[in-house]
Amino acid sequence: MRLPPTTALISIAALAPEVRALAVPPAQAPLPKRDNLDQIVLPGFPHPNPTVSYWQDPPHRIANLRTTPELPTTDVFDYVIVGSGISGAAVAFKLLSRDPNLSILMLEARTAAGAASGRNGGHCKPGDWKEVKDWVELYGEDEALRIGKMEQDCVDDVRNFVKTHNVSSGWQDVETADVYWTKEAFDEAVEIKKFQDELQQRRPNDGPWSNKRTVYAGQAARDYWKWPQILGAVAYTSHTQNPYLTVCALLEQGLEKGLNLQTTTIALSIDQVSNSSEAGAKWEVKTDRGTVQGKQVVLATNSYTNALHAGLASTGFLVPQRNQVAAVHPSKDTSNNTVFRRSHSYPDLHSGNNYIAIRAPGDIGAGDVIVGGSTKFSPTRERNITDDSVINQDIADDLHGVGRVVFGYENWGETTKVVKDWTGIICNTPDGFPVVGGLPNEEGLWASACMNGHGMAWAFRSAEALVQMMAEGETPTWFPKAFDINRAWNYTAEE
Ligand SMILES: Cc1cc2nc3c(=O)[nH]c(=O)nc-3n(C[C@H](O)[C@H](O)[C@H](O)COP(=O)(O)OP(=O)(O)OC[C@H]3O[C@@H](n4cnc5c(N)ncnc54)[C@H](O)[C@@H]3O)c2cc1C
Ligand SMILES: *[C@@H]1O[C@H](CO)[C@@H](O)[C@H](O)[C@H]1NC(C)=O
Ligand SMILES: *[C@@H]1O[C@H](CO)[C@@H](O)[C@H](O)[C@H]1NC(C)=O
Ligand SMILES: *[C@@H]1O[C@H](CO)[C@@H](O)[C@H](O)[C@H]1NC(C)=O
Ligand SMILES: *[C@@H]1O[C@H](CO)[C@@H](O)[C@H](O)[C@H]1NC(C)=O
Ligand SMILES: *[C@@H]1O[C@H](CO)[C@@H](O)[C@H](O)[C@H]1NC(C)=O
Ligand SMILES: *[C@@H]1O[C@H](CO)[C@@H](O)[C@H](O)[C@H]1NC(C)=O
Repeated sequence: MRLPPTTALISIAALAPEVRALAVPPAQAPLPKRDNLDQIVLPGFPHPNPTVSYWQDPPHRIANLRTTPELPTTDVFDYVIVGSGISGAAVAFKLLSRDPNLSILMLEARTAAGAASGRNGGHCKPGDWKEVKDWVELYGEDEALRIGKMEQDCVDDVRNFVKTHNVSSGWQDVETADVYWTKEAFDEAVEIKKFQDELQQRRPNDGPWSNKRTVYAGQAARDYWKWPQILGAVAYTSHTQNPYLTVCALLEQGLEKGLNLQTTTIALSIDQVSNSSEAGAKWEVKTDRGTVQGKQVVLATNSYTNALHAGLASTGFLVPQRNQVAAVHPSKDTSNNTVFRRSHSYPDLHSGNNYIAIRAPGDIGAGDVIVGGSTKFSPTRERNITDDSVINQDIADDLHGVGRVVFGYENWGETTKVVKDWTGIICNTPDGFPVVGGLPNEEGLWASACMNGHGMAWAFRSAEALVQMMAEGETPTWFPKAFDINRAWNYTAEE
């Protein structure tokens, strides 16, 4: 694992900085020609022609990068990582930060960060902490605190990465609110806040306490948030960003350290090498451009993991789901209206489970309102769909109307301009947690996948834990046991 990269590998880190800069192609380089693109619509694999998200326009300068023009099929890499989303990017970055001598190849079916990480709702939000009561019941207090702390630490780590590297991804620290429209839901939120307060008193050193939660009830909520119809809100610190630009910056950090990225290259199958060569190849990954070899392989394939691993697929534990987002613009000028400026919210409106982020003054598209959710307007709830080349019009219709209802005609104006609609695929597990770790009985095959629509708050720390497992052979004590990939095989679907 600590061998220097093989000489045949053209590593851009080995080049002088001025040459290295040239290795990155200019913005909007044309897609590499691939005659068979239309045929590669394999069930369960990333669709080759996805909708373009708000964040991906214009494409990043590494969007179509192939570090080496040819797929390096003769080298044996220390790691082959499949997937260039935040999971794969973070694993590469963290591995190379520990040991710059590692040789790492990353395969990406689409353009860089072209799946969920480049097409989400733009929140980096420690919002799952409100599930703490359930976690205590299911896993005990220590584990519940570990999960909550990990979420907050993960969000803080992403923020720290963006700040340390001066990433221009429109990162904003914002006051967020979980907003309630029904008395039952708000009463429950207040109960949970009490539960958290009691836990904090008893365990002052163990939880995500750096982020204070504030309850606004009834008229106080309406006065503070100025939303006419709400019954209450729980506010805390969160963040909005262009996730695509953050993840491309993370990939660029890896590239500077020698990562070989091969975009528009689909991994089709992964097989153990029975007659390991002198160079130590243990795994072969077959792609549409040839077969590559690695000592270890990392699945950072989120909602597409089942397609590459029949054993995991057979557990039924990982279930893809299509999610949809709209960028809309109110007809009134909102630039000086604090109702919009303070926002970034999660209104529990008509049970649409909507999440809203607003482009800040100074951002490209300032005042655009990014709305996600409304999955319930699909009879199938969009479950088990991996085609994000189309949008669902019923969901779009609802998303376009949510902002005006939330903020009111007075603030919003009477019409709404639709800037963009797009879809993306998330991956859900029955318990709501990702799968992280080594695949059982397959030495050198690892995964950090299935982020349950919450990857901006989970993937970075999951990658950190996985890197420690791979490099040191042990799981860090701060990492939730609830994320262990082995549990997938303990699962039996309810009839
Ligand atoms: C519409 C939408 C809104 C969301 N909103 C939010 C939000 O506001 N906040 C939040 O925290 N999370 C949100 N999420 C979830 C979040 O985007 C994901 O959890 C996160 O991006 C997962 O990162 P990842 O790297 O694990 O997976 P992905 O970003 O999906 O990356 C996996 C990569 O693997 C590649 N890949 C897969 N199979 C293969 C193969 N066989 N060969 C080669 N490459 C392959 C894919 O093309 C993809 O690029 C949202 C997701 C969607 C879709
Ligand atoms: C990397 O390789 C060089 C040259 O072989 C060696 O001197 C150095 O110690 C290695 N670094 C690490 C972190 O292994
Ligand atoms: C980031 O910006 C600050 C202030 O402009 C500067 O001091 C620092 O060196 C920059 N860091 C990097 C990594 O570019
Ligand atoms: C393993 O053996 C097969 C069949 O003999 C051969 O085709 C293949 O190239 C070998 N692989 C390695 C890595 O030596
Ligand atoms: C918003 O406020 C700024 C500064 O006070 C002012 O210059 C600008 O004209 C205002 N814009 C609108 C649309 O009222
Ligand atoms: C999910 O979709 C796949 C491929 O279309 C299909 O084979 C499978 O049966 C579906 N599973 C469920 C639970 O609907
Ligand atoms: C799976 O189930 C077995 C038997 O009940 C148990 O010992 C093991 O801890 C479980 N593994 C996980 C990861 O939950």
